[in-house]
Amino acid sequence: MEEGGQALEGKVALGFQRGFLAGKRLAELPWESLEEVLKHSKDSSPFLTVLQKTVFHPLCLKYPPSVKYRRRFLSELIKKHESTTAEPLDQLYEALGDVLNTEETTHCYKNYLLPSGDAITLRENVAIVSQGTTGLVTWEAGLYLAEWALENSDIFRYRRILELGSGIGLTGIAICKACHPGEYIFSDHHEGVLQQLSENIHLNGLGLEPESRSHHVEEGQSHQDHLLRVDHIRISVKELDWNLVSKDELAELQADVVLAADVVYDPELSQHLIGVLQKLPKDRRNKETPEVYIAFSIRNPDTYHGFQMQLGTMEKEQRERHFLLFEIKWRLDGKLYLPLGGIFFHMTSMLI
Ligand SMILES: C[S@@+](CC[C@H](N)C(=O)[O-])C[C@H]1O[C@@H](n2cnc3c(N)ncnc32)[C@H](O)[C@@H]1O
Repeated sequence: MEEGGQALEGKVALGFQRGFLAGKRLAELPWESLEEVLKHSKDSSPFLTVLQKTVFHPLCLKYPPSVKYRRRFLSELIKKHESTTAEPLDQLYEALGDVLNTEETTHCYKNYLLPSGDAITLRENVAIVSQGTTGLVTWEAGLYLAEWALENSDIFRYRRILELGSGIGLTGIAICKACHPGEYIFSDHHEGVLQQLSENIHLNGLGLEPESRSHHVEEGQSHQDHLLRVDHIRISVKELDWNLVSKDELAELQADVVLAADVVYDPELSQHLIGVLQKLPKDRRNKETPEVYIAFSIRNPDTYHGFQMQLGTMEKEQRERHFLLFEIKWRLDGKLYLPLGGIFFHMTSMLI
């Protein structure tokens, strides 16, 4: 293959790598570009390159996407290969054979490659709802907020961040890895979510301070105030229920910035969330009151308008100060602001 063709092959393989490791829907992977590469290739080398960047990638070997996802991916790749005149590629069939012999599990991994070359790895559930919660998978608004945060890292630099409804942690881990906050307080109310969140923080090298308690949460152990530290960032995982948290507890946290992603999907829930926002301190001894950034997908227009109306009932001064709402509008107008070309963001509503 000529030099230009090789460069294209490398670029396409990287597109597969990024998408596959993050578990993007198969339809979003660069199949058309692969076909373009195949026009200039007489052998199976582009397929081997794609295999090496995906199912044979060290991250996939250690932290693989779901069995179903790998099976569907390899079947698609074999279909593409069989439509060419290239010699059969044993590795393709061997890889599929291995996956077919692997038992399905209730969890899988997603790996996101950062511009720094570092990766974020998350252990997720394969089911969108499990253990009675939506918090064990990463949602589109969380992916989007992470995307936006990397582009606006100055908002987080050296500041104290409180995240509400963190789920399994993608947004916060991305901010801790790439935006240099002073302190990051992850929070959620669900036992299983807090457990998985703590494990994911650990998985990403955001280790415990030697003198602090083990963050590895044993059964029956409270999640409150697990303090971790990485590169001078204080990281904690807090059990915080919007229905129960008091004004004083929120004031104690002294957050400069409050974040939440994909927490506006149920009218009752958004009412509780508004309650938390109303309880945020107004005057922190002359320090600025927290800025609030909320990212949400518009699924049901009624829920969305209801949330906006509830926000409208907040005191004017409270509302105007610090709110920035992200509406993930791509469902409505097909456009999406992806400044970094989509390191994190992809549609998760259909799993594959
Ligand atoms: C759809 S998930 C979003 C998770 C994550 N922010 C994301 O974008 O991937 C909603 C999260 O809100 C949490 N949540 C729901 N009700 C809550 C409450 N009353 N107090 C605290 N967290 C709550 C759930 O446990 C879940 O983790």
